[in-house]
Amino acid sequence: MNASNRNEKLRQLKELALQGGGEKRIAKQHAQGSLTARERLDILLDDGSFEELDQLKTHRSTNFGLDKQKYYGDGVVTGYGTIDGRLVYVFSQDFTVFGGSLSETFAEKIKKVMDMAAQNGAPLIGLNDSGGARIQEGIESLAGYGDIFLKNVLYSGVVPQISVILGPCAGGAVYSPAITDFTIMVENTSYMFVTGPEVVRAVTGEDVTKDELGGPLIHSRRSGVSHMVCKDEREALLLVRKLFSYIPQNNMEDPVSILCTDAPDRADSWLDEFVPESPNKPYDMRRIISAVVDHGEFLEIQGSYAQNIIIGFCRMNGRPVGIVANQPSFLAGVLDIDASVKAARFVRFCDAFNIPVLTFVDVPGFMPGTKQEYGGIIRNGAKLLYAFAEATVPKITVITRKAYGGAYDVMSSKHLRSDLNFAWPSAEIAVMGPEGAVNIIFRNELASSENPEARREELTAEYRDKFANPYEAASRGYIDGVILPSETRFRVIKSLEMLQGKRQEIPAKKHGNIPL
Ligand code: HXC
Repeated sequence: MNASNRNEKLRQLKELALQGGGEKRIAKQHAQGSLTARERLDILLDDGSFEELDQLKTHRSTNFGLDKQKYYGDGVVTGYGTIDGRLVYVFSQDFTVFGGSLSETFAEKIKKVMDMAAQNGAPLIGLNDSGGARIQEGIESLAGYGDIFLKNVLYSGVVPQISVILGPCAGGAVYSPAITDFTIMVENTSYMFVTGPEVVRAVTGEDVTKDELGGPLIHSRRSGVSHMVCKDEREALLLVRKLFSYIPQNNMEDPVSILCTDAPDRADSWLDEFVPESPNKPYDMRRIISAVVDHGEFLEIQGSYAQNIIIGFCRMNGRPVGIVANQPSFLAGVLDIDASVKAARFVRFCDAFNIPVLTFVDVPGFMPGTKQEYGGIIRNGAKLLYAFAEATVPKITVITRKAYGGAYDVMSSKHLRSDLNFAWPSAEIAVMGPEGAVNIIFRNELASSENPEARREELTAEYRDKFANPYEAASRGYIDGVILPSETRFRVIKSLEMLQGKRQEIPAKKHGNIPL
């Protein structure tokens, strides 16, 4: 074979690989509003940056006539490229080849890029669109999943891992995305469940559709499995690029700072009047966040789930920061099981990847009731406490209004090694709200009073005066400063600068035992 024939053969092989499962299957994919594996990578990565690996790899199975059905690449496109010039490793499952199902060799390709991502310290992004285990292969396919899960676990906290679900994701296959740091779903085409509607019907008698069981709405609102939902694939892939801008390459690097054009000392004076006089009147904590962060830009994560707590990314003077904030306009910002778990996982992500945490506090306490107690609010609330206490990244807390009881301690208090804690003049830092406190400590007096209502009001006002303020806490150094709300941006930015060189250790151990 002469050189031109050899080169022509290579060209033909590559051409075949690029066709995936062929025109008809690609047309079917397009007809249902989905893109192909390669089109997705084109949107995700910088133009022309993608370098493919194992393009000519094929499966080795001979079962059920598979030896006569070989596709170069075997149903997954893998390699590396850049996002805004930064290296990332990717895999993109190709539904047009055996329904994107996972074979032994398919798994090998994914494992290779996972290892490279960890070894070379760059994030891994997985685009999932798969019918699950390659049915013709059986156990090799299960072994492949197991190997991927292991690597997901071993590399968790080493390099960021992001999953985008762009089609089916069922059976044990869901556990790889579940271990990764962020899972993004797309309306209409993506779903995730451990067992599909037919199995559910047979086992429990429940009649549910795919969407009702594991569609994006369910996972973003009820289960919390999905962190974000997008209208279409393009939006989801662009969202990954945006999310990526807040996170570093690996656990040894800091996230990338950008030049900030929003003045660090910008003071929004309306903030000084923003917190309502009545402690029971709700307000939207998002407005405070927008006023404080660079250009009001806040990338909220899990915005539809456990809305009593807000989490997400912003920049402060150009530097990425993770925000955790109680939301007084939803269930009064109370801490319940879902909110605690949501925020705990986020704090651990930030801590693993050197992203400082800024916490806004307006919390009336933990949610009372049998539903919460039976569901394990003790164990689950402890997760948030654990995450804040363990985190060694710079931690700054701003108490805007209520910080009551155990929730005061849990919400990144000084006692959990928060670095700088500020309170607004509207802060109320106490064991509990004045009404509750008076009902307990003056129960006997109120019971024997001739005019219990008037006396209750009097005592409540007295308690509020004494304890419902930031000054008791300030007098003990439990907060580092009482600040005007409009100063918050400037003070937080200065604090972050001061904390830039922070070094803090946790005692040597194999690992802690977070109350899972
Ligand atoms: C091999 C598969 C496949 C699979 C789909 N295909 N799933 N091939 N193994 N798991 C092939 C189909 O034969 C078909 O091939 C092509 O992919 C497209 O499939 P369709 O059924 O035509 O597509 P659609 O109607 O969109 O339905 C998609 C689907 C369905 C819902 C995913 O294909 C399906 O139910 N597949 C089986 C899912 C499943 O049971 N997987 C195993 C689960 S157990 P042609 O040649 O016609 O294009 C599991 C365990 C994991 O995953 C455990 C990990 C620990």
